[in-house]
Amino acid sequence: MRRSSDLSPEIAEESAWWQHAVFYQVYVRSFADSNGDGVGDLDGIRSRLGYLELLGVDALWLTPFYRSPMADHGYDVSDPRDVDPLFGDLAAFDRLVADAHEHNIRVTVDLVPNHSSNQHVWFQQALASPPGSPERARYIFREGRGYDGSQPPNNWTSVFGGPAWTQVGDGQWYLHLFAPQQPDLNWENPEVRADLEHTLKFWLDRGVDGFRIDVAHGMAKPEGLPDMELRGVHAPGVLSDDAEDPRFDNDGVHEIHRMIRKVMDQYPGTMAVGEIWVKDDERFAAYVRPDELHLGFNFRLVEAGFDADGVRSAIEHSMAAVASTGTPATWTLSNHDVVRHVTRYGDGAIGVQRARAMALVELALPGVIYLYNGEELGLPNVELPDWALQDPTWERSGRTERGRDGCRVPIPWEGGVPPFGFSTTANTWLPVPNEWDGLTAEAQLEDPGSMLSLYREALEHRKSNPGFGGDELEWYGAPPGCFAFRRKGGGLICALNTSGASVPLPPGRVLLSSGPMDGDQLPPDTAVWLV
Ligand code: GLC
Repeated sequence: MRRSSDLSPEIAEESAWWQHAVFYQVYVRSFADSNGDGVGDLDGIRSRLGYLELLGVDALWLTPFYRSPMADHGYDVSDPRDVDPLFGDLAAFDRLVADAHEHNIRVTVDLVPNHSSNQHVWFQQALASPPGSPERARYIFREGRGYDGSQPPNNWTSVFGGPAWTQVGDGQWYLHLFAPQQPDLNWENPEVRADLEHTLKFWLDRGVDGFRIDVAHGMAKPEGLPDMELRGVHAPGVLSDDAEDPRFDNDGVHEIHRMIRKVMDQYPGTMAVGEIWVKDDERFAAYVRPDELHLGFNFRLVEAGFDADGVRSAIEHSMAAVASTGTPATWTLSNHDVVRHVTRYGDGAIGVQRARAMALVELALPGVIYLYNGEELGLPNVELPDWALQDPTWERSGRTERGRDGCRVPIPWEGGVPPFGFSTTANTWLPVPNEWDGLTAEAQLEDPGSMLSLYREALEHRKSNPGFGGDELEWYGAPPGCFAFRRKGGGLICALNTSGASVPLPPGRVLLSSGPMDGDQLPPDTAVWLV
């Protein structure tokens, strides 16, 4: 049974809560470890709900905590309807949902429908069954090419490097767009659909408020599995969003999202957001039609550098993509797949200064915000030593791509030595750098000049200040390297300076700024809110 009734009545009754929510992505392995094994877990998250409430977020997105051999840190799921013992158990999950709701924080969870783990009972059965069997038909098995079938069925590459096919003992090959331990499911198979429906209901009945759908532009495969063009072009994220890429964004995917939506509609007040690495505005919009996903991640802001024109174009495209759909835009600066934005913007003091400015730009925008744990502390990406690297990308790329571990280092909570209260063991799954002693939540909470204080203040204004009303933006003329927009409904103005010199401030009273003003001038690498 749904337990949204645990939320306070005025919060619970709002069914479209997600349209203006601030979500906080918890990378479960790295958030808080309650049992001293060096890996974050569900009870750890529960112990930090007070912090999350203080920060001012409305909902959590938990990365996968299901049973998994952890070949891709949980994105290889062997049982989607159970909790991996590393993270707790179903009772711990229920406790977390109940406590989060008491803090008026909603809980959404990751779903991984494109593939399962190779240790999933289905895949084990497929391996034990002959070619052409119903057990194999849950995955994508094919004969190889070449006179003896020793070549993969097509030339597709895995997102993590190397071929997207692995050969099994009897000579057939199976498809895996990610690691070989993540065989792609066959979405033409009704059993696969029925199983996802089962999983959706399983978690909805336990009281979750929504889902983040992993690789939501995957799942459907093109007829005949045609070869891809190998150009070696990669977006900075985990997935490339090349319109010509036959592996992703096939039209058949929409029917799957309609099926998901039908289930969700039976649970009013719940939502789904898709991971959609699709750049074309129209193709993106198709995912958020009224009978498909409630929201889609648009990664344009992640892909833009610290440059006013690039950021403005990212904002305009993201808004244009959803304009015809009636769904709000979503805004993301970082997640567990990309280099943290402090580092993307130049690292060190300049990276932090620019990250502060971009936080104000993001939090001034209409729609839905997705924060990634640690960005509110201004964490940079970490240069980890080779021995510490765990992302499958590292080995799959022949140790040429270091992968995503650098943005997944455990959160520093308190104290002066690693792992800063994340765990009682110093032997954490990724090492935490000594230099993070000044970045702990504890150190930042009391410091009005800290990144954490900036986020808290900005989130408070976003929630309570009428300046944030309305869904549209009006752009002002601005000097080169700068922009200023106004929230049409509410009147808040946000100005950003990415140029090398101070520029005059737009008219208005300063509500919040990412750094000190230079008299009535907006200094470089700074953003300001005016009312
Ligand atoms: C998504 C996830 C990423 C994962 C991949 C395979 O892109 O965000 O972390 O590795 O899917 O499931």
